[in-house]
Amino acid sequence: MKIIMVGAPGAGKGTQAKRIAEKYSIPHVSTGDIFRANLKAGTELGMKAKVFMDQGALVPDEITIGMLMDRIHEADCAGGYVLDGFPRNIPQAESLTAALSGSGEAIDYVVDVDVPDENIIERMSGRRTCPKCGASYHIRYARPQSEGICDACGTALIQRIDDAAETVKKRLDVYHEQTQPLIDYYSKAGILRSVDGTQDMEKVFTDIAAILGD
Ligand code: AP5
Ligand code: MG
Repeated sequence: MKIIMVGAPGAGKGTQAKRIAEKYSIPHVSTGDIFRANLKAGTELGMKAKVFMDQGALVPDEITIGMLMDRIHEADCAGGYVLDGFPRNIPQAESLTAALSGSGEAIDYVVDVDVPDENIIERMSGRRTCPKCGASYHIRYARPQSEGICDACGTALIQRIDDAAETVKKRLDVYHEQTQPLIDYYSKAGILRSVDGTQDMEKVFTDIAAILGD
């Protein structure tokens, strides 16, 4: 199964993609996570991406599209994947459609996690992430067992630089301008399914699983 998650920054794409990946035994492919892993490893790609990410802007397509294509051609993606954060604009979507159709493949579902802007700032200001393993928490909605410490690996949690309120506003603008047109693009393709992302995490996942089937 090949799935795309779309939604505003902080809508819960990563939270739900992780659960989809576990349930359907497919890799969770997050372009944001790949950029952050590269930055942590000190690669040139990571340094280039950081400049754009810290400003809440999109990393240029010349960097992003090739990186994603390489990732989905790795062996573990042969049985499908859940894409989180890609595509993020029409040129990225068109590149993906063209690459897949070239090999007789297609995306099965695009899941739109719908959360209005007014809920997003609170989501982002409360998010805490693990700099080591990438696990995501929320100070109110997804608390770690021990405050400020990652349940999975025991590392001290941090706030993402791009979760500063001003940067979140910029990311929301970029989302509305560049990413939201994908809703129409995939709706016309007949594969878009929307879920109410303001519900609690369990209910959002139940709704997604009902769409994807067993
Ligand atoms: P990326 O890492 O993809 O960030 P994003 O899309 O802005 O999304 P987030 O990761 O911030 O949010 P999310 O939807 O995953 O929410 P989460 O589950 O964490 O991208 C970062 C940057 O990289 C971009 O700005 C860009 O610069 C660059 N980039 C990445 N991909 C690119 C591309 N394709 N092209 C160009 N540039 C690209 O949840 C958020 C919080 O809410 C958490 O604390 C969580 O616990 C909580 N939460 C989740 N669900 C619920 C719920 N139902 N109720 C209450 N709280 C909830
Ligand atoms: Mg995410």
